[in-house]
Amino acid sequence: MKKILVTGGTGYIGSHTVVELQNSGYEVVIVDNLSNSRADVVDNIAEVSGVKPAFEEVDCVDKEAMRKVFEKHGNIEAIIHFAASKAVGESVQKPLLYYRNNIVSLINLLELMPEFGVKGIVFSSSCTVYGEPDELPVTENAPIKPATSPYGNTKQINEEIIRDAVKANPVFSAILLRYFNPIGAHPSALLGELPNGVPQNLVPYITQTAIGLREQLSVFGNDYNTPDGSCIRDYINVVDLAKAHVIAIDRILEKKQDEQVEVFNIGTGRGLSVLELVTMFEKATGVKLNYKIVGRREGDIEKVWANPERANKVLGWKADTPVEDTLLSAWKWQLKLRERGIQ
Ligand code: UFG
Repeated sequence: MKKILVTGGTGYIGSHTVVELQNSGYEVVIVDNLSNSRADVVDNIAEVSGVKPAFEEVDCVDKEAMRKVFEKHGNIEAIIHFAASKAVGESVQKPLLYYRNNIVSLINLLELMPEFGVKGIVFSSSCTVYGEPDELPVTENAPIKPATSPYGNTKQINEEIIRDAVKANPVFSAILLRYFNPIGAHPSALLGELPNGVPQNLVPYITQTAIGLREQLSVFGNDYNTPDGSCIRDYINVVDLAKAHVIAIDRILEKKQDEQVEVFNIGTGRGLSVLELVTMFEKATGVKLNYKIVGRREGDIEKVWANPERANKVLGWKADTPVEDTLLSAWKWQLKLRERGIQ
C-alpha cells in the first residue's frame, strides 16, 4: 500500500482528504499539532473509512520532529501539505507568526523530501492569489495580484518557494491546488469544520446562527457591483475538493504530469452571492435565518469564481455536488455538533 503523509490531516479539508485517500487504497500518516483541530477527529476518520490512520502530534515547524516521522514511518511516497495558519484577520495582527508557521513548515518538508526519497507534494493554495481578478471566470493564467494580508502572502510565497525548489532539484514534483471557497461537511456528519471561536467564514456563521449560537448573521455589504449587491464567490463542496487531492496524488505517483509543477483551480465554475447562498440555505434546510445587511468588510474581494476547465480536462475532476446538498451537509454537521455537546 502506498503511503501518503498528510500534514494538517485532522483539520477541515485535511480530514476529508484522509478519508478519500483511504477509500482509494492509500495508507495515510497524519501529522498535526492540533492547534486548530481535535485529536478525536482521528477516531471519526476511522469510523467513516473503517481504517484508523497513523497519527503523529507534531508541529511541521519542528524539523527534527518531522525527520523522526519520516524515519519512523518509512517509504512515504508523497505529501499533501495542509498544515497552515489560515485566519486572514489574525495574520494582519501577527504577521511573523504566520510567516513562521506557513513558510518554515513548507521549507522543512521540501528539505526532507529528497532525503527520504519522497516523489511529490500537493500544496493547498488559494484563489486569494488572484486578488480581485480583471476577468471572470478566473483561469490559472490570470496575473497574481499583490497580497492583501500576510496570510495571502504566505500562499503566494509558498507557491514560489515550491517552483524554485523543484527547479533547483527536480527529484520531486508538485501540484498546486488553488481552492475557491470550501464549504459543507461529510455526508455522514462525522467530519466537518470546527471553527475556533466566532466564525469568520460565511457558512459556519450561517449554521451557528441557524442553531441559535449566534443571534444574527451580518451580510457584509449590498452595494457591490453585483446583481443583488452582495459579494460573489465560488463555493466548493469539501468532499469534491478532497477528491481532487487523491487525483493529484495518483498523477504524481503515476508520473503523468506534463510539467514538474502544475497548478489547478479547484472550484465549481459557478458564482453565488452571499444573499443567494442565504436563500439556498433556508430552502435546503427549511430553517429561517436571522440576518441583516451591514457595511462592507475591509479587504473583501467583490467577485471571484473559477474557470475549472483545466482541472476538468487534465485531472478528469469535476465538482458535482449540488450546493443545496452541500448546505444541508453543513447543517447536519452543526446539529451533530450540538448532539455531541461540542458547540
Ligand atoms: N460574509 C458575510 N458575513 C459573514 C462572513 C462572511 O457576509 O459573517 C461574506 C464575506 O463578506 C464574503 C463571503 O461571505 O463576501 C465569503 O466570506 P468568507 O469569509 O467565508 O470567505 P472569503 O472569500 O472572504 O475567504 C476565503 C477564505 C480565506 C481565503 C479567501 C480567498 O476563508 O482563507 O477565501 O481565497 F483567503
